[in-house]
Amino acid sequence: MQADLFEPSGAPWHERLSAGAVLLHGFALEGEEALLAALRTVIAAAPFRKMLTPGGRPMSVATTSCGPLGWLSDRQGYRYQAGDPLRGQAPWPPMPPVLADLAQRAAAAAGYPGFSPDSCLINRYVPGAKMSLHQDKDEQDFSQPIVSLSLGLPAIFQFGGLARSDPAQRYPLLHGDMLVWGGVDRLRFHGILPIREGVHPRMGPQRINLTFRVAG
Ligand code: SIN
Ligand code: FE2
Repeated sequence: MQADLFEPSGAPWHERLSAGAVLLHGFALEGEEALLAALRTVIAAAPFRKMLTPGGRPMSVATTSCGPLGWLSDRQGYRYQAGDPLRGQAPWPPMPPVLADLAQRAAAAAGYPGFSPDSCLINRYVPGAKMSLHQDKDEQDFSQPIVSLSLGLPAIFQFGGLARSDPAQRYPLLHGDMLVWGGVDRLRFHGILPIREGVHPRMGPQRINLTFRVAG
């Protein structure tokens, strides 16, 4: 944690959190306009919607996806699917190359070369929204990392262990930060504490998180 005191302020820097996890501070800030334009295109094609948990309760985040496979939650459980149920099973919007390329570069910078995601899950958090501790385990191949991009309001990421009851470390995630976890850390429990009230100068009163995965 001491390292950041010696970084030039505002410069991107890489913080190793553990053997398989790296926090790439500010990694997405360069080329931000192109990535936000691409994100707008996706959201215009496949709008955010509130999915139900398998228990039947609406999630506090609103969700959409792009790429060949979209992530779904409903009373049948969690899964990836090629069709969007909100749009008559139409294919999810294609993953914009600027997003796929960013994810691939982030993965490589974190020690996972050759990352080629087939799914990008987009979660929108308004103040108060959260993500409870969970593992990402709906994917076929756990040898591939998870690559996450944070935009908008700050969040506190909880990074637990391989058991739900393990203590969790807490890391702030800011606009433009990317977090990559894989290898021995791939199945660690993680979550997001309730987003605090605020207005981000670029994104308004919300946080948007994109997670890139090799799902199928
Ligand atoms: C997730 O774990 O699916 C989302 C994490 C985040 O919002 O940063
Ligand atoms: Fe997750």
